[in-house]
Amino acid sequence: MAGNRIICTTSNVDYITIRKAMCNGVRMMDELVEETGVCTTCEGCKSELDKILESVCGCKNVSLKAVIDAVKNGADTVEKVGEVTGAGTDCGRCKALVSNIIELGR
Ligand code: FES
Ligand code: FES
Repeated sequence: MAGNRIICTTSNVDYITIRKAMCNGVRMMDELVEETGVCTTCEGCKSELDKILESVCGCKNVSLKAVIDAVKNGADTVEKVGEVTGAGTDCGRCKALVSNIIELGR
């Protein structure tokens, strides 16, 4: 994934803030609104926010669903999720999120 940038321009919320919120358990748009203050008023960034929420690993293009499925199928460490899905096996920046998904099971 490339560097940081503003995603929600009205509320001035950047990419890293959104990813950090996800690492703290945010999965749904209403949770993201509460946690980060994104406004979700414009369709453009709303669809971008949806894409960010659905994705875990940009390097390997691994979705949240794929990681949750792997966890449900018994991958109970970041390394095991990496073996099954590829998530976290490149730059490693998504490992904190993978770890949170394992912890919460969602
Ligand atoms: S500027 Fe916040 S959702 Fe578009
Ligand atoms: S985002 Fe780089 S390994 Fe997942």
